[in-house]
Amino acid sequence: MNNWVNEALKIAQEARDRSYSPYSKFKVGAALVTQMDEIYPGCNVENASFGGTVCAERNAVFHMISKVGIRPLKGLVLITEPLAVPCGFCLQVLSEFAPPNFEIHMFDPNGLHHVKKLADLLPNRFNPASLPK
Ligand code: THU
Repeated sequence: MNNWVNEALKIAQEARDRSYSPYSKFKVGAALVTQMDEIYPGCNVENASFGGTVCAERNAVFHMISKVGIRPLKGLVLITEPLAVPCGFCLQVLSEFAPPNFEIHMFDPNGLHHVKKLADLLPNRFNPASLPK
């Protein structure tokens, strides 16, 4: 496995341990990796309003932008039990900043590993280029 995936998996596992998910009990850890191999973790943070909940992947994107701004992106590592693909909202937010060949590595805690490109999961994306000039 790529070195950056291993490194990001550790960071995603730590973020998952910090997940605030008392309502769903579904703990999600994410780690967003830039072309420079910087890693930005995120976990899901739920809310009693339910609608205020934010997913791990979006928190990772917002974390990067809040800290260093927009960087060229390489991939994302996600850890859930059971293994899951990112939701449509998160794919949409990732597509704002990530290229079609951006890699999404999905793990479960037992080491099950699936990898997909962003373009596999969201082939016809609405992105900034979709808007009129
Ligand atoms: N969740 C994520 O963090 N990422 C996803 O891609 C799907 C769902 C979270 C939101 C909520 O806290 C819990 O998982 C159940 O939907």
